[in-house]
Amino acid sequence: MKAPQTIGEDMSYNSKIKGTGIYLPERIMTNFDLEKMVDTNDEWIYERTGIKARRICNPDGGEYPTDMAEKATWQALRTAGMEPNDIDMIIFASVTPDYKLPNSASVLQQKLGITNKCTAFDIATACSGFVYGVNMADSFIKTGMAKNVLVVGSEMLSREVNWKDRSICILFGDGCGVAILGQAEEGEKSTIHSTHLGTDGSGAEFFDQPIGGAVTPIEEHHLKEESHYMRMKGGEMFKVATRTLANNAKVCLDKAGMTLNDVDWIVPHQANIRIIETTAKLLKAPMEKMIVNIEHYGNTSAATVPIAFHEAIEDGRIKRGDTVLFDAFGAGLTFGATLLTY
Ligand code: UT7
Repeated sequence: MKAPQTIGEDMSYNSKIKGTGIYLPERIMTNFDLEKMVDTNDEWIYERTGIKARRICNPDGGEYPTDMAEKATWQALRTAGMEPNDIDMIIFASVTPDYKLPNSASVLQQKLGITNKCTAFDIATACSGFVYGVNMADSFIKTGMAKNVLVVGSEMLSREVNWKDRSICILFGDGCGVAILGQAEEGEKSTIHSTHLGTDGSGAEFFDQPIGGAVTPIEEHHLKEESHYMRMKGGEMFKVATRTLANNAKVCLDKAGMTLNDVDWIVPHQANIRIIETTAKLLKAPMEKMIVNIEHYGNTSAATVPIAFHEAIEDGRIKRGDTVLFDAFGAGLTFGATLLTY
């Protein structure tokens, strides 16, 4: 069952992705809907970002981040052939958790009916959140500290964008993607080859939301000024993003002793189609290798990579045995990549 791989004197395990799932809110908001809300138009949005529509959670409930995660996890459990109590760790990546306390992973544990008191914690590394979670899950499995780790990227960004600010509201959407990682059998092709994580805090001001934390709790004047929403320096983020994504890929490939020729698919963070195209150019990778779905969902932060990955599995592009590179960056500025064979 367990596949101990002997490395010197130590016992170690390989991990692999056993199942995936997604949930997308029912409500679709198109660029034409946005035209009625702010001074923008479909042509500008599509040309500059590649986005046509995004999903928006029901603000009255049923589609909050842990609701979406619960629905996506049932799907992943079915694919993995597992029961909820087979999960012994939950890593919930989100910058839009249901509550400040308790953490979303704990709420999700209860919604799934998990009674084994498994480890459950949140991480807030913005758009890199899912990749951070996958890489952490891999480490926990490798050391034998966990057997089956549920990694969630679930966001309700519609709560945090200023719907009157055209520079930001056109970009984001809501959604959730999850993956269950578990131990790989000895000699199995499906495995995680290498991981890479990092942060450059010097770029923190490019994308932030300073009001509403311990330093500056939200007061009435913030609501009036509308200064409590997310703020972004789009141009700065764009420049950093392309450099970072290209570098992530190179570092991860080098660590594994592989080249882009060994990679069948790249699943990049979906922030802007032009960022994805520029990254492909920097890497000299054909766009056919890039999994892109930004047109339908916009930027769902920690959820973009798992949603795109799952959709490409479902439509038959990504098959078992294919080698895939996850590649992400986000506010912080955080970044990370995972090189795996599915
Ligand atoms: O998840 C990670 C975080 N996000 C990102 O990485 C986003 C990275 N940045 C971007 O994707 C792009 O910088 C944006 C899509 C945000 C902006 O695109 P841009 O090509 O950099 O446009 P810009 O901000 O330079 O604006 C160009 C023009 C401006 O007008 P003027 O000054 O040239 O007259 C803007 O006022 O477009 C105007 N503009 C708009 N027009 C119509 C800005 N937003 C809009 C809009 N609709 N929504």
